Amino acid sequence: MKKYNKIVLTGASGRLGSYLREPLSKITKKLVSIDKEDIGKTLHNEVFKKLNIKNFKEVNKILKKTDLIIHFGAYSNEGPFQEILESNILGTYNIWKSAKKNKIKRIIFASSIHSVGMYRANETINHKVMHKPDTFYGLSKCFGENLAQMYWDKCGIECLTIRILSCAKVTSKRSLSTWLSYDDLIRIVIQSTKIKKLGFEIIYGVSNNKRLNVDNTNATKKLKINIKDNAEKFLNKLVQKLDIKKDKPGDKYLGGPFSIAKLESDAMSSMKIINDKKKIN
Ligand SMILES: NC(=O)c1ccc[n+]([C@@H]2O[C@H](COP(=O)([O-])OP(=O)(O)OC[C@H]3O[C@@H](n4cnc5c(N)ncnc54)[C@H](O)[C@@H]3O)[C@@H](O)[C@H]2O)c1
Repeated sequence: MKKYNKIVLTGASGRLGSYLREPLSKITKKLVSIDKEDIGKTLHNEVFKKLNIKNFKEVNKILKKTDLIIHFGAYSNEGPFQEILESNILGTYNIWKSAKKNKIKRIIFASSIHSVGMYRANETINHKVMHKPDTFYGLSKCFGENLAQMYWDKCGIECLTIRILSCAKVTSKRSLSTWLSYDDLIRIVIQSTKIKKLGFEIIYGVSNNKRLNVDNTNATKKLKINIKDNAEKFLNKLVQKLDIKKDKPGDKYLGGPFSIAKLESDAMSSMKIINDKKKIN
């Protein structure tokens, strides 16, 4: 028995979206995937709609009769403020505004470590710390988190905010502590759809890494999420390629390269992110 009739996934054409589509399609009768970029092949119970979430009318039409929203669509880098404003601030506002209109009770939101990226990497932070964004991108995720909290407090829309650290292949010393495996991402998202009472919670989207510098006990206990992977298994491979003892300039702060990037300039190009999007056959 599938639990949901209709799940809407935003950012479905993106890298993380490509890993979420199949597991989400298994728990719903119909998966509606949306993005402003094309998606390619769709799954048997998936419908794709190309749209920009900055347009409220289009968002609102798509969200009719939806049970659950997985909101991953965003400008996912530091960059021009206007881009971040439209996709991450206005777009996210449109999702929650329409959720309320359509009586949708739960949203799973991809936030980011960059909402707290200016904390020092050698202190361990938990879900209660104040925001300390490292970029306009991080600041837009602070807006999304506060928006979600407000809609929970005032309107009863539940939200799991996932402050994702680095959901990408391990290619640096920093990512030995910040890595989130695709399997653990899926575990977090799927578990958040199963839990009966969610309310508003913040979880750090990170695997169970030996060098972890965030305290995730609150959410993992409350949500009964079993996070399994550990980036340490990549250590030997990395040692051959880089001097593991040497920190990079951004490594002082949790936000890594974003913490030292110029505002409104690309922060990702220095990060060697491998675009290993999952293909649908
Ligand atoms: N990958 C990571 O390590 C990481 C870390 C922290 C946070 N996140 C967050 O997770 C989410 C997914 O990240 P990703 O790595 O897959 O990024 P991505 O850039 O690959 O995917 C984001 C998708 O959102 C779409 N999008 C952007 N603006 C849109 C708009 N206005 N209307 C409709 N679609 C729009 C893009 O076309 C893209 O397909 C993002 O919200 C990102 O901020 C990711």
